[in-house]
Amino acid sequence: MRRREFLKRSSLSALYAWAGSSSIMTACHTEEDMIGKPGWIDNGAFDRPLHMLPVSAGNAALNASLTTTEILKGASSDSFSYAGQILGPTIVANTGEIRDVSLLNNLAEDTNIHWHGLILPENMDGHPRNVAAPGESLYYSLPVSQRAGTYWYHPHAHGRTARQVFMGLAGMFIVRDREEAALNLPSGAYEIPLIIQDKHFSGGNLDYSPTGEEIMTGYLGETVLVNGIHAPYLDVKSGWYRFRILNGSTARVYNIGFSGGVQFHLIGADGGLLRVAETLSSLLLGPGERMDIVVNFSGLQAGKEIYLISNAFLDYGPQGRQSFRIMKIVVNGQAGSDFVLPGTLSAIPSPDPASAVNVRVFDIAEMQSGGHRGMARHTINGKVFDIDRVDETVGAGTTEIWEFDNLEGDEIHPMHIHGVQFQVLERIGGRKKLIASEKGWKDTVLVMPGEKVRVIMTFPSYTGVFVLHCHNLEHEDDGMMLNYQIA
Ligand code: C2O
Ligand code: CU
Ligand code: CU
Repeated sequence: MRRREFLKRSSLSALYAWAGSSSIMTACHTEEDMIGKPGWIDNGAFDRPLHMLPVSAGNAALNASLTTTEILKGASSDSFSYAGQILGPTIVANTGEIRDVSLLNNLAEDTNIHWHGLILPENMDGHPRNVAAPGESLYYSLPVSQRAGTYWYHPHAHGRTARQVFMGLAGMFIVRDREEAALNLPSGAYEIPLIIQDKHFSGGNLDYSPTGEEIMTGYLGETVLVNGIHAPYLDVKSGWYRFRILNGSTARVYNIGFSGGVQFHLIGADGGLLRVAETLSSLLLGPGERMDIVVNFSGLQAGKEIYLISNAFLDYGPQGRQSFRIMKIVVNGQAGSDFVLPGTLSAIPSPDPASAVNVRVFDIAEMQSGGHRGMARHTINGKVFDIDRVDETVGAGTTEIWEFDNLEGDEIHPMHIHGVQFQVLERIGGRKKLIASEKGWKDTVLVMPGEKVRVIMTFPSYTGVFVLHCHNLEHEDDGMMLNYQIA
């Protein structure tokens, strides 16, 4: 049944009661209604320098363990780490290389690694069947065959993904190639990966304890970290910077922009460069999605402070109510990197919809009873994830159109498909059109309430079982995931 019917029939009117009234559909909450409620962002002090994530340019050894780290200033928290502090190293590889990564599981629970956005053989993809028990290791040998882009990695043990990511297990995976190198994009100190994640803390400790309601909405924290630091600042020179931004949050959508009317140029999204840059003031970034931007700070005076912010976005439930600051940027006046934004960035083929051998519809609006504490459960096509059931079978090398249908739904679902990069053909209902980041290759697409999004892709020659799922990680863990087989 549809969620709103479910709510009616189960008379769960307490759901969203914290948001101030009986329904999120009415979108009648003002920022003021939300202040102090769960998920209301604390802006923070912006007095700690941005942490630059360590880079791993060769093979990597990751050691998933419980650690104690200082995330909030002056407070130590339990967290999970791959290398001593939250967030793993940024793995960098060139197209054509093979990266070997070992994972030692020093946690007290199963874990594994999925390489989000990378197209890999089945046994390297981090399917939830392939996990390491406590004390065991997994060895990944990753043939990097695709184009340059900002990819990432995180655990994928079913039912545990959200908490393990929340507790600190995630990292970036950057692929470089010649096409991109020829553009001379800002690099070195001028190319900065940013992983944005909201967290909930209790008494200075990372606290992952979603209620039934928070499994419905997604777990929203009050503290936004960038590269593991709350409210950091970054000193910039006057010139161009490239920011590769990953939304590594379990459920929060950001509407990324800068204060002071500073615009940015979107040059890439999930699967690498766009055809041409688009100049923007804000861009929605759902969980799992990446945006690759360049910004020119040379028009700003020395000493000028601006902020990387999330602008409010209305009409999609409580989480879009607030605008908030994410990171402070201080222009120090020294001359920085010169760069000329090229008119053309990349050549991207447009798959022909007529070449699709099949159209599959995935109903993502349907809820099922029997969830946590009287709540409904998230489903795809009315089904909850079964690790052993194959739900769809596609042909290797064939092209298909998949439709994610949330026309009747009232939750935000960032839909993600393993094993392929797709292109967005069309958005029906809701926003009705593609946004700038959807004009290139994607692996995750935001499907807002009232929308149906159609994507097209050609499956690779790697056969085996992969998953598709909602990248709201509370929804994923709740079972909003299916297996599909490439045969
Ligand atoms: Cu980043 Cu299966 O996910
Ligand atoms: Cu993935
Ligand atoms: Cu979802």
